[in-house]
Amino acid sequence: MKLGFIGTGKITSSVVAGICSSKISFKKIMLSPRNRNIAKKLKRKFKKVAIAKNNQEIVNSSNWIFLAVTPTVGNKIIKNLKFKSGQIIVSFISTMTLPQLKKAIKVKAKIFRAIPLPPISLRKGPVPVFPPNKKVKNFFDKLGTTVEISNEKLSKNFWSTSGMMAPFYELLSTMSNWLVKRGVKRDKAQKYITSLFVALSEDAVVNSNKDLKHLVKESQTPRGLNEQGVKELRKAGFYRATEKTLNSILKRLNKV
Ligand SMILES: NC(=O)c1ccc[n+]([C@@H]2O[C@H](COP(=O)([O-])OP(=O)(O)OC[C@H]3O[C@@H](n4cnc5c(N)ncnc54)[C@H](OP(=O)(O)O)[C@@H]3O)[C@@H](O)[C@H]2O)c1
Repeated sequence: MKLGFIGTGKITSSVVAGICSSKISFKKIMLSPRNRNIAKKLKRKFKKVAIAKNNQEIVNSSNWIFLAVTPTVGNKIIKNLKFKSGQIIVSFISTMTLPQLKKAIKVKAKIFRAIPLPPISLRKGPVPVFPPNKKVKNFFDKLGTTVEISNEKLSKNFWSTSGMMAPFYELLSTMSNWLVKRGVKRDKAQKYITSLFVALSEDAVVNSNKDLKHLVKESQTPRGLNEQGVKELRKAGFYRATEKTLNSILKRLNKV
């Protein structure tokens, strides 16, 4: 199996790193020459990675093609590429719909949308895939947790929540900085905060078959620190603002 990536930016770097340390069996990974520095770095790091001369060379020599360019670039370049029917094309482009992709690709290829997130480099995290497909699910299950979606409209709700990664890191950064301001060394502060949140997340995953509100309840003792924390943040509108932000991200996705 030969894999090709059109667009070598942040998400391609993460996916390629994940694939190269996974159990996925593949012959070669072809990268587009843009971004040149990232492509060169990946080639140096992984021996099965090669850099193509141009995007068409990737399409010609790959069985699976991943589209990892921004929507503006995608709209410009995909229609000019000659795909073959039978190829598997997986688009990471968050705002190009399946009908738009089909129109641009023209041939009867198998086209999917997937939204991997940067922790895929560690083979962790959810990968929403639309439409459901066994081969694509098997592939991404080796890189994380595939979440199959059967309705493209529903998928936008998932894409919206992926806009909460930077806000999550901002929270970790705010808490670490708070400790630093109080005299804790930065490395200690960051180690404390990141391992606290990894432990909480792991616990949440283990308990994800139950309603998460149980965790909210169980982590509070009456009149304890966590009760104060959640109460004050609720009063300040922190969670309402979270929901409001999700709504406005979704609204933006619905416009395209
Ligand atoms: N980052 C994420 O977490 C994430 C997650 C899921 C989905 N996505 C989606 O994946 C897509 C890529 O995101 P990204 O964060 O990886 O963006 P990015 O870092 O900006 O990467 C886009 C890449 O496309 C390259 N490019 C520009 N014009 C090109 C062309 N004509 N042919 C081939 N490559 C070209 C750019 O190269 P130059 O630097 O040379 O311009 C750049 O390396 C977006 O549609 C995004 O919505 C991103």
